Amino acid sequence: MARTLTNKTILITGASSGIGRATALACAAAGMHVSMMARRESKLREAAAAASALGTKAHYFVGNVADPEAVRAWVDEADRTLGRTDAVLANAGYGASIPVMDMSDADVRGMFEVNLHGTLHVLRAALPYAMTTDGGLKHLLVTSSCLSELGPPGAGVYAATKAGQDLIAQALRAELAGEGVKVSSIHPVGTKTEFFDVAGEQGTPGSRMDPPDIFMQRPERVARRIVACLRRPRAEVWPMRTARVAAGLATVFPGVTAWALRRGWAKQQAKVRAGAR
Ligand SMILES: NC(=O)c1ccc[n+]([C@@H]2O[C@H](COP(=O)([O-])OP(=O)(O)OC[C@H]3O[C@@H](n4cnc5c(N)ncnc54)[C@H](OP(=O)(O)O)[C@@H]3O)[C@@H](O)[C@H]2O)c1
Repeated sequence: MARTLTNKTILITGASSGIGRATALACAAAGMHVSMMARRESKLREAAAAASALGTKAHYFVGNVADPEAVRAWVDEADRTLGRTDAVLANAGYGASIPVMDMSDADVRGMFEVNLHGTLHVLRAALPYAMTTDGGLKHLLVTSSCLSELGPPGAGVYAATKAGQDLIAQALRAELAGEGVKVSSIHPVGTKTEFFDVAGEQGTPGSRMDPPDIFMQRPERVARRIVACLRRPRAEVWPMRTARVAAGLATVFPGVTAWALRRGWAKQQAKVRAGAR
């Protein structure tokens, strides 16, 4: 039976733009109260106003998910303000278009701090509230990626953070099943958000990770699938199903995958060299 979302609450990180913002608005449209966290206050304020305009309570908190104290302060304040904690979406994250060997140790650590440790900070802080909320949804969700299954050139470290999130979600799903807690991982393909601009700014020229157009979607599509998952929890959400099939084939045929990635990378590098001449 589908669960009712009216007057339930969800806490979302990375809600100042893209998938997080679209999900906050889709949850508000479904009757949920939302708390949003990110670093840019003006964007959060605007997103909270848009969510309130849909008739629900909206709360925001400015902070960095890499800071566990800030995350705990957010979750405490959100629970106090909204009166309950039903679900949390650990969504904040970023990529960098840069080959593995060109990425400094500090940059690798920085990406793991936000994408992987940040996810853990959020889940750890929210779980005690989610488990004790009367009649709650008891749902933890994590925005991983279709790259949880594939390490493309120019995005190897980013893919490692996304695989890490996926594996943590898999383990938690079993560890928390006895407590009635649902754990879902979300695996979007390329999504039209600020993500690729941020990845380009952080990366090296010629390493942009933009996928082909057939693997691009809008954040609202991901948000709709997340709301559907809140109603009927699933282990994994792949908003574009062909990507699930492609990821499965890539795992079954690693030799073909290696060939295709090598070929794609060589073509991209040849284009960069031609542009530089
Ligand atoms: N777009 C894609 O193609 C795609 C595909 C698969 C998976 N994903 C994943 O989807 C998630 C959302 O990305 P998006 O596509 O919506 O990109 P986006 O528009 O760039 O959104 C990223 C969000 O994360 C927040 N954020 C980044 N670093 C943060 C930090 N240290 N602390 C708190 N918030 C932080 C950003 O807000 P502030 O800058 O205001 O802090 C922003 O709200 C990410 O985890 C990404 O890896 C994206």
